Order: sequence, then C-alpha cells, then structure tokens
Amino acid sequence: MELFSLKDKVAIVTGACGLLGTQHCEALAAAGAQVVAADLDEKASGAVATRLGSGHIGVGMDVTSTASLQAVRQRIMDRYGRIDVLVNNAAINDMFENPALAAHQSMFEHYPLDAWDRSWRVNVSGVFFMLAGIGRSYGGAGVG
Ligand SMILES: NC(=O)c1ccc[n+]([C@@H]2O[C@H](COP(=O)([O-])OP(=O)(O)OC[C@H]3O[C@@H](n4cnc5c(N)ncnc54)[C@H](O)[C@@H]3O)[C@@H](O)[C@H]2O)c1
Repeated sequence: MELFSLKDKVAIVTGACGLLGTQHCEALAAAGAQVVAADLDEKASGAVATRLGSGHIGVGMDVTSTASLQAVRQRIMDRYGRIDVLVNNAAINDMFENPALAAHQSMFEHYPLDAWDRSWRVNVSGVFFMLAGIGRSYGGAGVG
C-alpha cells in the first residue's frame, strides 16, 4: 500500500456521483488522497465527499463549461494549492427507458441526433476541456 500511497495528493474525480465515480472516489481516499468529488449537482457531490470523511470536498461542475471548470480549479488551488490526479469519468451513459425499444433506439440509424450531440460534448469535448483546463494550473495555455 505504501508503494501506491497518494498521501498529500489532491485528486479530482468528474462524474463523482455516478456508479463508477463513487468507487473512484473511495479508492483514491483509501489510498490517502484528498478527493475533490465533482459532478453537476453541488449538493450531491458534497454528500459523496462527506461520506469519504474529512479533508475531501464536493463541487458542482459541468465538464462542458470552461467557466465552470475554471471556477472549480480556482477553488481547488485556493484550498489545496495543487492538483495531482484527474479522473475523467463524467459521461453520458445512455439508459434507454424502455428495454424493449433499447436495441432499436441505440442503433446508429435510429439514435437521436440531440443525444449524439450531448454525448459528444460531454464524453469527448468534456475530457479535452478538463485536460486543457487543469493543465493550465501548471502553466499551459489551456482553454477559455
Ligand atoms: N458502469 C459500468 O459498468 C461501466 C463499465 C465500463 C465503462 N463505464 C464507463 O464509465 C463512465 C461512467 O459510468 P457510470 O456507470 O458510473 O455512469 P453514471 O451515469 O452512473 O455516472 C456518470 C456521472 O457523470 C455525471 N455527468 C454527466 N454529465 C456531466 C457533466 N456535463 N459534467 C459533470 N458530470 C457529468 C452524471 O451526473 C453522473 O453522476 C461512462 O463513460 C461509462 O460508459 C461504465
């Protein structure tokens, strides 16, 4: 465990309130990291952080909004002064309400265009925004 210790490291997890996000948060906290649980809803993110124990925080953040992620980055830098780990986990994970229609709706030729646009924005551009925005903390040009 010492070899993999994240003591005194600050880790951000996006999509922290989701199925895998909460697991990422718990694993990072167990390894000693100070976790920033980031998801769309600040209250829900706060609840995840509270469950992890003291030293962790929850923040409301939208990975598709550079203004939102810059505000969060500033909050983290003000509080911890560093960011060591980024887990780009936020995603639109399609759940088709009607299992009987799911196979049909999820085919490319039937997939709704607005859902495609939303998924692309979160699942692809969101990763880029986070990498560019967080990298900026270390002197990169960043986005926005
Ligand atoms: N659950 C699995 O078994 C599994 C397996 C392999 C891969 N994955 C992948 O892992 C990722 C997470 O999966 P999950 O099952 O935890 O999904 P999930 O739907 O449970 O969680 C996704 C989280 O992302 C958040 N989110 C959505 N849009 C956001 C935005 N714009 N900004 C910030 N947060 C946003 C949601 O609020 C949600 O809490 C997905 O890409 C999924 O495809 C999941």
